[in-house]
Amino acid sequence: MPALRVILSLLIVLVGYVIFKVVWPPLNFPRNIPTIPCYVVFLPIIFDIDQVDIYNTYIKVQMEKYGAVKIFFGSRWNILVSKPEYLAQIFKEEDVFAKSGNQKKIPYSAIAAYTGDNIISAHGDVWRKYRSIMTNGLQHFKEEPFICNAKKFCGLLRKNRGPTGNVLMGPLIQRLTLDNISQVVLGFNFGTLSEETNELHQHLIKIKKQIFHPFFLTFPFFDMLPIPSRKKAFQDISKFREVLVSRVKNDLINNYKFEQTSYVSSDLIKAYNNNIIDYKQLTDNIVILLVAGHENPQLLLSNCLYLLAKYPSWQKLIWKETQNISNYKDLNELPLFNSFLFEVVRLYPPLNIIINRKTNKKCRMGQDIIVPKNTYVGYHNFGVTHNRNVWGNTAEEFDPRRWGTNIADIMIAWRSSKNSCKLTSFHGGRRACLGEKLGFVEMRISIFEIIQQFELTLPKEWKEKMTPAGPLCPYNLQLNIKSREKDVGVCE
Ligand code: HEM
Repeated sequence: MPALRVILSLLIVLVGYVIFKVVWPPLNFPRNIPTIPCYVVFLPIIFDIDQVDIYNTYIKVQMEKYGAVKIFFGSRWNILVSKPEYLAQIFKEEDVFAKSGNQKKIPYSAIAAYTGDNIISAHGDVWRKYRSIMTNGLQHFKEEPFICNAKKFCGLLRKNRGPTGNVLMGPLIQRLTLDNISQVVLGFNFGTLSEETNELHQHLIKIKKQIFHPFFLTFPFFDMLPIPSRKKAFQDISKFREVLVSRVKNDLINNYKFEQTSYVSSDLIKAYNNNIIDYKQLTDNIVILLVAGHENPQLLLSNCLYLLAKYPSWQKLIWKETQNISNYKDLNELPLFNSFLFEVVRLYPPLNIIINRKTNKKCRMGQDIIVPKNTYVGYHNFGVTHNRNVWGNTAEEFDPRRWGTNIADIMIAWRSSKNSCKLTSFHGGRRACLGEKLGFVEMRISIFEIIQQFELTLPKEWKEKMTPAGPLCPYNLQLNIKSREKDVGVCE
C-alpha cells in the first residue's frame, strides 16, 4: 500500500508539472507581451473551427496591439511575432535568432523524419554551403514542363468532373505540382499526372495525413511513445524517402545524366561526389526540394483558384487581360493578373505560422521586449498581412488594386512590402525563399491554361472553410468547372 501511495503521489506531481508547463509560459518569458491561453491551440482538435477564425477570435486584438504574443505550440511555449520592425530585426540578426528547424527542435517527431536537415532549416556554414549549391538551379530553369503539365491537368479536371461539374481539387493540384517540381528541379518525371495510382503519390497522400494531424502537430512529444499509428507513420515516411531517392538514383546517377544537366538535383549530386556534402545531406535536400517545391505551390494554387472562383469579376478581368498575349513570358507584364497573385499571397500566406528560430543568447527585441536565451521565436504570416496598423482598414479585404495599376508600380509595391517585412509570406532577408520566381512562373502558366479552358465557381455543396491548422488553404476545396468554348489543344 505505501508503494501505491508513492506511485500515486509521483503521478500527481508529474501531471501537475505537465499542466504547469502547458498552462503557463516559462517565468523568464517577457511580461510586457500578452499570453494567448493555452487552450486556443486545442480548439481545432475539438471543434469545427478554422485557423482564420482562431486568429480573429483569440489572437488578433493582442497581436495588433503588441506586435508579439506568447503562445503554446509544438509542445512548448514560444514567442510569435507579427510586427514588421521585429521581423526585420529577427531576419537581420541571423546569429541571435538562429534557424533551428524540426530536426533540432523536435528531432523525435514524424515531421522531422520527413524533411531531415536541409537548406530551409540549417544554420550558419552548413546553410551557406547548401545555398551556394542550390541557388543557380532554382533561378534558371525550363518552363516548358509547366505548360505541358497545365494542359494535362485541364484534361484531368474534365475527366474528374462529377455530374454537376464539381471537382475535388486537392489531389489533382497535388499531382500537377508534383510533376512540375520533379521535371523542373529534380530532373525526371514522376508521372503523377498520367498515372491514376502512382506509387509516390499514394505514399504522399498517406504520410501527409499522418504528419499534419492537428493533435500530433500540437504535441509532437507523443511521437516518442510507442503508439502503433505513429510507428506506422514513421515507416511510411521512411518508405516515401526511399522511393524518392531511388528514382533520383535511377534517373540521374546510374546513367550519369547529372554530369550534363543543371537541375538542382544534378548540382547536389556533383557536390556529393566532390565530398562537399554527405549522403544524408544529399537525401535530405532532395526530399526538401520535392516537399517545399510541390507543397507550397500546391497551397498557393489552391488559394488562387479558390479566390478566382469566389470573385468571378476578377476571373473575368484576368481572362480578358490574357486574351492578347503572344507568349507565356507576356504573363509577367499583366497588371491585373500579377496584382491578383500578390493579393492572394497577402490574403492567404500558404505557410501561416512558422516557428523555427531559437535565440542563441538573451536579447532585446525592439525597444523593450527581453527574450531569454533558448527561446523559440516565430512569425504569424497571416497576422503580418492582416495587420490594420500596417495594411490599413482594408487589410482583411480582397483588393488586388491596392498593389497599383501599372506593372512597374505593382512590382515596386511588391518588392517594397517584402523588404520592409510588411509581407513575409516568402520569408525575407538572406533567407528569402529560393523558389519564389519558380513558384510564380508555375502559377501564371497554370492559371492561364486553366482559365482559358474553364470558368470556375464555388459550388454550394462546398462549405467555405480554411484548414484548421498547419498550412493555410481552403479545406477540401471543391470547384464547379464549366468548359469554355475555346479549344486550346492538349499535350501528350
Ligand atoms: C510558391 C509558394 C511558396 C511559398 C509561399 C514559399 C514560402 C517560403 C517560406 C515562408 C520560406 C521560409 C521558411 C522558413 O523560414 O522555414 C521559404 C524558404 C525556402 N523555399 Fe519557398 N515557398 C514557395 C515555393 C517554393 C518552391 C517552388 C521552392 C523550390 C524548391 C522553394 C524553395 C525554398 C527554399 C530552398 C527555401 C530556403 C531558403 C533559405 O533558407 O535559404 N520554395 N519558402
